[in-house]
Amino acid sequence: MNGIKIRGTGRAVPEKVITNQDLAHIVETNDEWITSRTGIRRRHHCAGETHTSLSVSAAKAALARAGVSPGQVGACIVATVTADTLVPSAACLLQRELGLPTDTPCFDLNAACTGFLYALHTMECLLNASPRKFGLVVGCEQLSRVINWADRGTCILFGDGAGAAVVECREGWPSIGAVLGSQGDDELLRLPGIETGERGFISMEGTKVFKFAVEVIPRCMEQVLEQAHMTAADVDFFVFHQANARIIDLAVRKFRIPPEKYYKNIQEYGNTSAASIPLVLSELQDLGKVDSGSRTLVVGFGGGLTWGGALIEFA
Ligand code: UT7
Repeated sequence: MNGIKIRGTGRAVPEKVITNQDLAHIVETNDEWITSRTGIRRRHHCAGETHTSLSVSAAKAALARAGVSPGQVGACIVATVTADTLVPSAACLLQRELGLPTDTPCFDLNAACTGFLYALHTMECLLNASPRKFGLVVGCEQLSRVINWADRGTCILFGDGAGAAVVECREGWPSIGAVLGSQGDDELLRLPGIETGERGFISMEGTKVFKFAVEVIPRCMEQVLEQAHMTAADVDFFVFHQANARIIDLAVRKFRIPPEKYYKNIQEYGNTSAASIPLVLSELQDLGKVDSGSRTLVVGFGGGLTWGGALIEFA
């Protein structure tokens, strides 16, 4: 199978910022607890923006950065659990807003916080069979619409945002070597479907999910490295799903990753689920921390339960 590389990234976040201090007026919490337990200081919530407007802005920025026109796109996937409408999908709305060719497969993908990685792998498979070799992969969430404001254990965590990547598939490029997994569980992390009789909020057994993440991340990283016949020292950069700074710190310590080789933006955005990894990738590209040829190990985990890792390169 021919592999994909990232040509360009883009991102969009709502203007409205919710600080830890703001949350202390809503639930019994404080800045010290939130910062020390999670690393989060601020998160952005939609107030006027929509899921569609965020995904369109991020996708347009990624296309511009990649120098790719909508007519060159062969497939479009939006990883999300909070689209404006279940039907039409967020990806179909992107097709309309961007003017993607009507023979482009466009669909949403739900793998919660691992969604962007699942989507990258799916895109690699799709582009191998597509006459057009550019793909648009978006991670977008409006989690502020599914927050339970009576639950201080979760309401402090989540933010809205979108990140997008234009990828290219070329003969001879190595596969991203995605390692993906799932284990059905509707208790640790749950967002009910429509009209189930449950209120449409996210609920989470935080400590248990923390434990799951701390176990699955190293396992996943080792599998990706083993498959690529590489060690952690061969990797140029590491990108982790931004769910909790302490989870990232534990992984970094375990693999002895130096500070210049990983990045956190959880302090600014909180946990944005499927948008978290592409938000990091987009900031890294703007900061010049990743360039063509650099090998980035990306790891995600989340509801489902789901997890995944892959080795990605920028073109
Ligand atoms: O992206 C998908 C994957 N999600 C994750 O990876 C999330 C993983 N889990 C976590 O990040 C952490 O478990 C949380 C940040 C959600 C919670 O941190 P924790 O260290 O596991 O805290 P806890 O739930 O065990 O609660 C400890 C204490 C409790 O008080 P008592 O029972 O010890 O008196 C909570 O009631 O902290 C209390 N607490 C709070 N206090 C102030 C819980 N939330 C808050 C709060 N402010 N917001």
